[in-house]
Amino acid sequence: MRPQFGTRFLTDPRQVFQHNAWDNVEWTEEQEASAKKKVLENSQPLPTEKQEEYEGRANEYWNDFYTIHENRFFKDRHWLFTEFPELAPQCSLNNDSHPQVSGADDSQQDSLEREQRIDVAALSLTDDDAPGSSATYRILEVGCGVGNTVFPILKTNNDPGLFVYCCDFSSTAVELVKTNPEYDPGRCLAFVHDLSDVEANYPVHDGTLDVIVLIFVLSALHPDKMQASIRRLARLLKPGGVMLLRDYGRYDMAQLRFKKGRCLSENFYVRGDGTRVYFFTQDELHEMFTEAGLEKVQNLVDRRLQVNRGKQLTMYRVWIQCKYRKAPVQPAKTEG
Ligand SMILES: C[S@@+](CC[C@H](N)C(=O)[O-])C[C@H]1O[C@@H](n2cnc3c(N)ncnc32)[C@H](O)[C@@H]1O
Repeated sequence: MRPQFGTRFLTDPRQVFQHNAWDNVEWTEEQEASAKKKVLENSQPLPTEKQEEYEGRANEYWNDFYTIHENRFFKDRHWLFTEFPELAPQCSLNNDSHPQVSGADDSQQDSLEREQRIDVAALSLTDDDAPGSSATYRILEVGCGVGNTVFPILKTNNDPGLFVYCCDFSSTAVELVKTNPEYDPGRCLAFVHDLSDVEANYPVHDGTLDVIVLIFVLSALHPDKMQASIRRLARLLKPGGVMLLRDYGRYDMAQLRFKKGRCLSENFYVRGDGTRVYFFTQDELHEMFTEAGLEKVQNLVDRRLQVNRGKQLTMYRVWIQCKYRKAPVQPAKTEG
């Protein structure tokens, strides 16, 4: 059954400019073929040295991004709790009440970076007084940016047993989370962590997380590193725990808009600011999650037509949403 993606359907093409967005739009075969052609025309990869530079300095490019934009980006989270009720299972929802994150003081960066390094090094030796050790519901957000998911969770989910871990490999982003007035170290721990570094410790034990959230972050990794990263994360889930993902889908407008000279490998591009993005199919994500030992709960494509009524422009967005679960422990069979 289709979930909560919205219910405004375009049945008469002449009405396209009557609203700002249409849900669940069907693509015609010609449209799909033309998107494919466009992608092929722009699939000449950049030279290896360039590729290596973008990989080696990936977190610096994201630091620069957050230095420029601070917390003025990625604000639309109206869908968060309708699509992912696992983030606040016992709560009655009021999507309009989600907080917006606010500013931070840049001058604290050095001391915060030092503190974060110490934090995680110490926490990886987790013991009974480590943050969240007594929690009964643990969520980890990876690639949390400035906290546009974390703060709404803390605000909406009032379960006293909740603890939210969140990480990003951009120390600038983590600093913005930690200096946000809504940051509560009693309920939340933000730390610097590179998802693609599968040897690095997380400050939680394997088999202890109820939910892992990946929102537009897996697409920022080099495709060769995605599978191992998902496998590493899957180990952190409890039996019955879920991984939630929302990310870019193949032929999203953002993919079709890339100009020549931005392609790194098939369906993987670098933006003008040095940050990178991959565009997934549902099958690729299914493969990745199931290879990591998880089972499908949901794997959907959300196709939306956004309209700029002023400029009379149409923009076809394609997002993929997945929920994959670690198998719950089976009760032991009794003999006889
Ligand atoms: C498109 S932003 C999305 C941010 C946030 N999830 C949101 O939706 O607002 C991608 C985020 O992933 C982070 N990121 C990219 N590669 C990462 C990696 N290897 N490890 C951890 N975080 C990463 C970036 O720093 C950035 O904050």
